[in-house]
Amino acid sequence: MPRLSEETINDIRRHADIVDVISHYIPIQRKGRAAKAVCPFHDDHDPSLSIAEDKQIYKCFVCGNGGNVFTFVQNYEKISFIESVYKVAELTNYPLELPKETFEVKVDSRKASLYKTMNDAIAFMKFQLQSVSAKTYHEYLIKRGITKEIMDQFDIGFNGPSDQLRTFLKAKGHEDSAMLASNLIQLTQNGLHDVFYNRITFPIHDSLGNPIGFTARSLDPNAPKYINTNETELYVKGHVVYNYHRAKMASRKAGKVYVTEGVMDVIAFAKAGIENVCATLGTACTKEQIRLLMQCSKTICFCYDGDKAGQSATAKAAKLASLMGAHVEIVQNTTGLDPDEIIEKYGKQALVDMVKKTMTMMEFMFQWLKGQYNLDNYSDKKQFALRMKEEIEACNDDFDRQNFAHQLSLLTGFSLQALNMNATHTEKPQPVVNQRRQKRLTTPLDGKTKAERQILAQMLTSKQATEIFKSQLGFLLNDVSQKCAMMIVDAYRKTSTCEVAQLLDAAKEDEVKQMLLDISSDATLINNFDEEVLTGSIRRLKRAMQEEKLQEINAKLREIRNPESIKALLDQRNELQKELRGYIDEEQ
Ligand code: GTP
Ligand code: MN
Repeated sequence: MPRLSEETINDIRRHADIVDVISHYIPIQRKGRAAKAVCPFHDDHDPSLSIAEDKQIYKCFVCGNGGNVFTFVQNYEKISFIESVYKVAELTNYPLELPKETFEVKVDSRKASLYKTMNDAIAFMKFQLQSVSAKTYHEYLIKRGITKEIMDQFDIGFNGPSDQLRTFLKAKGHEDSAMLASNLIQLTQNGLHDVFYNRITFPIHDSLGNPIGFTARSLDPNAPKYINTNETELYVKGHVVYNYHRAKMASRKAGKVYVTEGVMDVIAFAKAGIENVCATLGTACTKEQIRLLMQCSKTICFCYDGDKAGQSATAKAAKLASLMGAHVEIVQNTTGLDPDEIIEKYGKQALVDMVKKTMTMMEFMFQWLKGQYNLDNYSDKKQFALRMKEEIEACNDDFDRQNFAHQLSLLTGFSLQALNMNATHTEKPQPVVNQRRQKRLTTPLDGKTKAERQILAQMLTSKQATEIFKSQLGFLLNDVSQKCAMMIVDAYRKTSTCEVAQLLDAAKEDEVKQMLLDISSDATLINNFDEEVLTGSIRRLKRAMQEEKLQEINAKLREIRNPESIKALLDQRNELQKELRGYIDEEQ
């Protein structure tokens, strides 16, 4: 097995999505944002294995098996670490020279055979597009600025009339049943026929890059502009995100994924050199699509068409994404055009500039709702105010709530009292308490251990927390905790980010790995940066240390007879007690 550099291994890990990869081996159940499965590593009937998409790790709360994507594949396939890296690369279509002796990936054989049919269809249609028969269609694409390079990049193709695709696939040995199952042909009143004919075809892939369907454009003004694959075993409508498999890595790098409406918009972004972009293909954005998008980036930036329908779709999608915990941005598009038309009319740079100008969800809502009502009419204005009030109250940022309440009052002339909004203080919504406690396998933890775990959890999520730890404490008492802390500090120093999934590969000792894993998957710890929680834990830890010292002094005092030593110890005890009182006062 050839050696791979650490960077390549890291890159493969980031390129892969743990949920995608695990779902390739075992069925995954999703509940809200949590992904769970019946653990394959012990005799299990309940979904005890939980997968943290944000951290890219998994853990079984019963048998304790856990780790990153490589660990899973390694344990499941019973292979070496490096073999698991190659396997993950292969599963996720990572561009890597695979060694000759590449092992077979255990993929559902039924699906694998449909992928083969789809791939042959793609190759045929790509070839057709470059043939004379497609002349008009080819010229149309060129006129729209779609070069040969872009055609190749997106595997754009063409299928002519009279069942050319079916004829070709038959000759290649594919059965009608496979073509029907993948919706490449369909049964009509007069027999079996190609679904996509006289159309430019754009293949659609699943999140791992397997071909699952097509969206196809007609040039006939009397036909539907686009038709898409019907629901099949491979193509599940609400789950499809066009271009996801290509955009995944770029989105992770950029920390942001753009979402557009159509294929042509994704291609427009590509022309402008922007790769972290997907499309929801004209349908209302679903929870599944957002869940998938959030796997590559917490920040989802909507860039739908600038027309009325596009803006109203933006409001719906943005709200859903925000409810699901995404960080939502919206591109400020005041042109009324779609991204492709913007390039056509104003050039690439105009699109590059536009997508940099983003609004928050509240800014967008304010602007969009304002445009929906006639503010010169009293009852319209009142309706607008009440609607906007709802939005403001749903927002969980104190500052934003106050700011927009104020702006709403200014714009409408309605007082904050009339709006029943108190701009100076609003109740913070209570955080949702995690009802499902993880199963306790160990004895309850003591206060010191709890504090150390909470500190580590904070450090894992935030560089700022790590800075605070360095300046206020700098070390942890437990040997293993201390090693974890040093690894985290080191990670931030080197790359200014910290990924648990990477630390798990870097950790040399099993105890350290286990602790990192435990802390990352402990639902009782608060793991979004919260300065109060962090400094509280630091204080508790310091206090516990002082209390221990105090007990030591008390024990010595009981033994020592030398008056000078006794005096020194009493002084120390006084100091300690003063400090301790300080901590206790602060806590009250
Ligand atoms: P161009 O007109 O070629 O620039 O495409 P566009 O990306 O501007 O398309 P548009 O904004 O009209 O539609 C966005 C997406 O909605 C498309 O990519 C399709 O997936 C879908 N869509 C558009 N028209 C139809 C249609 O007639 N039927 C279906 N099923 N989907 C459509
Ligand atoms: Mn368009």
